[in-house]
Amino acid sequence: MSSPTSAKIVLLPGDGVGPEVVAEAVRVLEAVAQRWGHSFSFETLLIGGAAHDAYGEPLRAVDIETCRGADALLLGAVGGPKYDAVRPERGLLMLRKSLELFANLRPVSVLPALYPASPLKPELLDGVDIMVVRELTGGIYFGQPSHQTEDERGKVAVDTLVYHEFEIERVVRLAFEIARGRRKQVASVDKANVLQSSRMWRGMVDEISKDYPDVAYQHVLVDSMAMHLITQPARFDVIVTENMFGDILTDEASVLSGSIGLLPSASLGPHQGSGRRLGLYEPIHGSAPDIAGQGKANPAGTILSAALLLRLSLGLEDEASAIEAAVKDAVEAGVRTGDIAKGGPVSSTSEFGDAVVARLSA
Ligand code: IPM
Ligand code: MG
Repeated sequence: MSSPTSAKIVLLPGDGVGPEVVAEAVRVLEAVAQRWGHSFSFETLLIGGAAHDAYGEPLRAVDIETCRGADALLLGAVGGPKYDAVRPERGLLMLRKSLELFANLRPVSVLPALYPASPLKPELLDGVDIMVVRELTGGIYFGQPSHQTEDERGKVAVDTLVYHEFEIERVVRLAFEIARGRRKQVASVDKANVLQSSRMWRGMVDEISKDYPDVAYQHVLVDSMAMHLITQPARFDVIVTENMFGDILTDEASVLSGSIGLLPSASLGPHQGSGRRLGLYEPIHGSAPDIAGQGKANPAGTILSAALLLRLSLGLEDEASAIEAAVKDAVEAGVRTGDIAKGGPVSSTSEFGDAVVARLSA
């Protein structure tokens, strides 16, 4: 058993269902602290539309600095129709970029108890256990120029897809490292038949792979991967790809699990001296404004993100596994929010949290 850990965790509940799901994850973290004798302190900051309402900007510079000084960050969701014009998502993008959170890990697995919640046939879901490693601070999300203008043929919009070698190298290496601790297979996804950036990416994967002779790898074109994820998802172990391909493929992959509300993510920066690694942990779902404030949101994705936080930023493996086991057990016992109830009894957001806390405290 690990020795007691103190950690400062910054909470960024954000918009829509964000505050509700983060509240349940905090209860779970408190239950862990109690059971294992850790001491976690929480500080809540505004991001997204909530920050725009309070401060006129989606994330204040001073709050980015507070995040930088924390041991880990837990985020709910940002955005909503009320904020379409102000693009509160900019707060999240600024946070990722300022803290250099270059690697976004999105694990996708399927609980057999939830096969009926997935649109795929059960035989396709057997053995699905994928780790998507999405590059998060480069590519078309951040390339310049990015603007709208006009020329002699009318309005023009420009976005730019740029990758530096170092940006590709660090995320691809991490993917190979992660594969070593799993089934030792990497699928690198690109569009090398069209894009320069993909051809550079592909060449670098070939080079880097030489340092990992124990890991098998293949290149897969992104359009083809979109198909394979549905036709043979169990074939893949680690998938590494650039920012926008990863964004799209992970929403697709979430369908396998039965609900996007179940999936967690970790966005990691470079290693810090202390051996710790700053990370931003968040469910992959959005702010779901249609159900916000009604106790309907599935907090599992955020609770599982808290488990990743313990594992990857604080090195608390037993505690992380205990949370994952508690979520699995609760779902198997039939405690389910509306997105995965499929005609069975429906639990509220906080009832699901109660069920996880009860299992951790038992
Ligand atoms: C995600 C989201 C974000 C992204 C949005 C909210 C900017 O879709 O985390 O996948 O595109 O990265
Ligand atoms: Mg997305």
